[in-house]
Amino acid sequence: ASKSVTLNTGAVMPTVGFGTWRSKPGQVEFAVEHALKHGYRHIDTAAAYGNEAEVGQGIKASGVPREEIFLTTKLDNPDHRDAAGALESSLKKLGVTYLDLWLLHWPAPMTKDGKADKEHNWIDTWKSMEALYKQYPEKIKAIGVSNVSVEFFEKLLKEATVIPAVNQIELHPACPQHDIVEFCTKKGIVLTAYSPLGSENSPLLTHPTVKKLAEKYNVQPANVLVSLQANRPNVTVLPKSVTKSRIEANFTVIDLTNEDIEELHTIDKDHHFRACSPQWTGWGTLGFPEYKSPL
Ligand code: A2P
Repeated sequence: ASKSVTLNTGAVMPTVGFGTWRSKPGQVEFAVEHALKHGYRHIDTAAAYGNEAEVGQGIKASGVPREEIFLTTKLDNPDHRDAAGALESSLKKLGVTYLDLWLLHWPAPMTKDGKADKEHNWIDTWKSMEALYKQYPEKIKAIGVSNVSVEFFEKLLKEATVIPAVNQIELHPACPQHDIVEFCTKKGIVLTAYSPLGSENSPLLTHPTVKKLAEKYNVQPANVLVSLQANRPNVTVLPKSVTKSRIEANFTVIDLTNEDIEELHTIDKDHHFRACSPQWTGWGTLGFPEYKSPL
């Protein structure tokens, strides 16, 4: 998997990255080390995952030089009012001097005790991130967002002085989000697909269409799902695993035809699951009624 995309900053981002959401401290250090030794050069974490320190240790243990790795982390919801503090905390925990990409994790500011922070506008957080990016180019190579819908993006672009390099969103055949993919692609903003396998206990891995294509190409169902994203222009993808054999397997990208891609996207018609962020219903119960599930 040596494919890559070029960001609007000119930086190169490897197409297949390594996801670490729900990878626990104790497992993730080894997983990151193994992924890097196997050839991955793009690692994704977040302050909210609670594993930045172990991800940093895995990077060091791999022996792969920092400058060969594309490293992403994210500003957490309770840190919207203190972007500078969040940046320093992430750098310190990861044990690095710079981030290749720093994302605003959710357009959902929260208080330290986990409630919606209605007095704070997430676009002001973006402005703080822009200011830090301009002030410390040696610490932040690119900034971007995550879980941002078309509607929210339109609001952001009216006020932004830096166009986000990336929008990281949930993308898999049961959550294709064609509208935001098209919107960002037109604007030269790269999409990064999280939960490309459909996350834990995913029914996609045993879906007949996925299985049929896996047999056709003599690969695992996971390869079909990773390759679906990796075959799209302007999309990068973050399969997550803490299992050695799967970490290795997921790095193989196969060429899918346009017909294969279309067929995989028909799954969505009768097989919705999970939330399709950014309208995750869970936010409603946390005090963000404006985030409604489209399903
Ligand atoms: P594990 O980490 O225990 O290996 P996603 O990337 O969509 O978030 O999916 C991650 C989930 O899929 C995890 O539960 C992970 O398990 C599992 N997984 C990762 N790679 C594979 C694979 N090649 N085959 C089956 N399941 C996989």
